[in-house]
Amino acid sequence: MQTLVTDWPEEAASCLNRGETVAFPTETVYGLGADAFDADAVAGIFKSKGRPSDNPLIVHVATPDRIGEVALEISDTARMLVERFFPGPLTLVLKKRDVVPEIVSAGLPTIGVRCPSHPVASEFLRYCEHPVAAPSANVSGRPSPTDWKTVYHDLGGRIACLLRGEPSAIGLESTIVDCSVNPPRLLRTGAVSIEALRELVPDLEIATSCKPGEAPKSPGQKYRHYSPEAEIVLVEAPPKSLPEIAPTAWIGLSASPTEAIKTLQCRDMDEYARVLFGFFRTCDAEGIRTIYCELPPEEGIGRAIRDRLLKAAGKN
Ligand code: TXA
Ligand code: MG
Repeated sequence: MQTLVTDWPEEAASCLNRGETVAFPTETVYGLGADAFDADAVAGIFKSKGRPSDNPLIVHVATPDRIGEVALEISDTARMLVERFFPGPLTLVLKKRDVVPEIVSAGLPTIGVRCPSHPVASEFLRYCEHPVAAPSANVSGRPSPTDWKTVYHDLGGRIACLLRGEPSAIGLESTIVDCSVNPPRLLRTGAVSIEALRELVPDLEIATSCKPGEAPKSPGQKYRHYSPEAEIVLVEAPPKSLPEIAPTAWIGLSASPTEAIKTLQCRDMDEYARVLFGFFRTCDAEGIRTIYCELPPEEGIGRAIRDRLLKAAGKN
């Protein structure tokens, strides 16, 4: 299949409206979309990503008021979260409307809904006739793509269209809160922090999959994720020296040990989040065998970085 690469949201949307799969930028990571009401089109997403069929997709809407097109029984708490954080890097799990085919929710009675704040994503979604089901636009198991070239590398020739945009400003996938249960439960950490959520939802529960070192419970969390080819070694602080002889890289908030041949010292946690997946990918391209990753503090977006690092290291 020839992949059309375009800068025009309207052109990308008309492709999607014809039942094709379209990759598009969002502020978290790039997504691979299909019409959420078209089961055959959605099947194309699973096929091109090699995604297991029991892992549900998030549905994207152009504006917060369109959540009702895919979800029912939106609680007061859910409404509060929508008002505060939509559009933005938050996904809410709500009761699913029957119009959304089962393939989207992997047979679950609930549906994840998100309204991206990225201007290109918003424009694209406005031109789409229906809400858009979209996982991250990577081959299953690989780190999520944060720029269009990475999407092309993974999925070029396997998808109908790629809508180009700037690199994703956040760099980690959305925070997921399950509002179909009471009290609401955090299923995945992201840029909307636990601290920010607890200001509105003091009794928010934290699923074990979000607690470092504990076994995953929610769908999708059980699969190996975010993995570069290189071995990941997690450290709380830079070691005095690195034992490996093989090509070694360093990423963290601190300066690197001198032996690392490829290093990235991030100014702050936002930068760490933004560059992490891209760093994994360039390390692989450059034949790095071991990546030392410094665990950031467990606060704000630091929790999400730690979560992705633990998963990449196969520890969660
Ligand atoms: O930032 C994001 O969320 C990106 C962009 C493209 O929006 N999307 C993304 O999708 O990260 P994906 O498919 O890579 O991750 C979706 C996660 C999976 O872990 C899946 O199990 C969970 O959301 N999920 C989706 N629907 C769910 C549901 N009804 N109940 C529980 N978890 C759900
Ligand atoms: Mg993904």
